[in-house]
Amino acid sequence: MAYPQHRLRRLRQSPAWRRLVRESVLRVEDLVYPLFVVPGEGRRQPVPSMPGIHRFSPELLVEEAGAAVDAGVGAVLLFGVPDHKDALGSEAYAEGGLVPRAVRELKARYPDLLIWTDVCLCQYTDHGHCAILAADGSPDEEATLPLLARTAVSHARAGTDAVAPSDMLDGRVGAIRAALDEAGHGSTPIVSYAAKYASAFYGPFRDAAHSAPSHGDRRTHQMDPANGDEALREVQADLEEGADIVMVKPAGPCLDVIRRVKDTFRAPTAAYQVSGEFSMMRAAGERGWIDERAVALESLGAIKRAGADIIVTYYAVEAARWLREDA
Ligand code: PBG
Repeated sequence: MAYPQHRLRRLRQSPAWRRLVRESVLRVEDLVYPLFVVPGEGRRQPVPSMPGIHRFSPELLVEEAGAAVDAGVGAVLLFGVPDHKDALGSEAYAEGGLVPRAVRELKARYPDLLIWTDVCLCQYTDHGHCAILAADGSPDEEATLPLLARTAVSHARAGTDAVAPSDMLDGRVGAIRAALDEAGHGSTPIVSYAAKYASAFYGPFRDAAHSAPSHGDRRTHQMDPANGDEALREVQADLEEGADIVMVKPAGPCLDVIRRVKDTFRAPTAAYQVSGEFSMMRAAGERGWIDERAVALESLGAIKRAGADIIVTYYAVEAARWLREDA
């Protein structure tokens, strides 16, 4: 029916009306805060391209996690940034490695905070690729999958609440699931970066994690941003291999993909608002070109509206405080 019988504006005329007919709500419970851990002690290194974000040595990481807990954030995603790298990424799965140590310290202090640990080799390899490379320089899946599985088991042993493989090699969810089960960690969930695009929005993260590939790029294993149907096949494969939560990444540029994944599979769906998304909003906010708080909350709200149940974001702690102030 047409105007004037229908005036959609009628239900927008006051805060009380808008609140009553609001379709989706961003909640602090939805947020996951990424953290970067470096070896040593007393290290708190600002990430130049991500103002407000730091790499922490384990004891300072525990402090930062405390700030997240105080703000009401219930989960963190942990990335190890080692000092030592080699061709096989051996620090990723070393006994007594950096991430297991950080997990133990976090768990000891904040047992109820959920910890997800990133599982990938790119921060650990001297060439910066997510896989062991074959003689021709291409990713060698057969050689890499057992190492990813070892990495995941080392995190599970330390008590991580979930492992999050981010490499986009085929078959890794199945390989990790089998290894976890074999090692007696059948209850450790897998959060799979299922539809992860070869995105230019990861630029600042590579600065944060020292993980830029020294040659080439990740387009041979991460997805072509032009593709949407293929994301559904990726998600389906990971669910069949045993993924418990599937993730779409990046989030803002892929709202359509989030919606299709949620509608198709009805599985717990996460979206990662990545470093480039964060840094653009932060930088424009610092210049006074946008209202950063309003833009960040709108962006997170859009990711929620698109169908994400869980949002990984560098804004998690700030957003939690903003949401509380707005409540
Ligand atoms: C790789 C990994 C990346 C991110 C998370 N895990 C980078 C990449 O694939 O190049 C990106 C996160 C971000 O940009 O915030 N282990």
